[in-house]
Amino acid sequence: MFKHTLFEKNSIFLVIGILVVVSIGGLVEIAPLYWLDSTIEKVRGVRPYSPLELAGRNIYIREGCYVCHSQQIRSLRDEVERYGHYSLAAESMYDHPFQWGSKRTGPDLARVGGRYSDEWHATHMIDPRSIVPESVMPGYPFLAANRLDYENIEGHLRANRTVGVPYTDEMIENAVADVEAQANPDEGDVDALLARYPGAQARVFDGEPGKVTELDALIAYLQMLGTLVDFDSFDAAANSR
Ligand code: HEC
Repeated sequence: MFKHTLFEKNSIFLVIGILVVVSIGGLVEIAPLYWLDSTIEKVRGVRPYSPLELAGRNIYIREGCYVCHSQQIRSLRDEVERYGHYSLAAESMYDHPFQWGSKRTGPDLARVGGRYSDEWHATHMIDPRSIVPESVMPGYPFLAANRLDYENIEGHLRANRTVGVPYTDEMIENAVADVEAQANPDEGDVDALLARYPGAQARVFDGEPGKVTELDALIAYLQMLGTLVDFDSFDAAANSR
């Protein structure tokens, strides 16, 4: 009883008391991190974004798609049944900034890759209500008309390298060529692209060969989301050993 009065009547004691209590919580959370080699376990298949996918991701951020879409499947039964395997930390290890999101006006997109055809995406992006009549998603028809501005894509790779994404000099030098090869495989060196970015999908994404549009980049990005890790062979317990 007496001690309580001491804390309530002397603000200095109260402040010191609060600091002691709060720092115990901080120590418990922060101190173990200094003894861990890494908080993210590497998982086979996860690689940096190809330049075209990265350009698509930039458009995703520019248009604010994250305002309505999350990219994080929680380990809850209803989520796993609807969207697929829960998200692994490694799957967003090359995301700067990450796109986990905090609001789902539309569905989670972490594993949307391969779920629909390119044509479905192109039609849906231009006019969502032509496919889902009750959709509240805005249309983005201009993406199909806009030429993708990718001459400076090297700079984007370099910026990502600065924050830890392992882009090599070769990847940076060939970034422009890789954009063209992925969106117009008939005219580019797809083998070299695949050697640099295993599993990258190379084709005309927007249905219009020739010009590389913003829609090409965005669909290339959406179609790779969640496809890098092979969950038929992935074993979370084995991976942590
Ligand atoms: C105002 C909120 C809103 C914004 C902003 C928005 N969406 Fe959506 N999105 C939705 C809703 C609602 C749906 C579900 C109905 C539908 O399919 O249109 C949806 C559906 C989708 C789907 C289909 C997902 C599935 O599994 O069926 C994709 C892909 C998608 N959005 C991509 C995007 C992209 C890319 C952007 C940014 C260019 C974007 N959305 C911006 C609300 C939004």
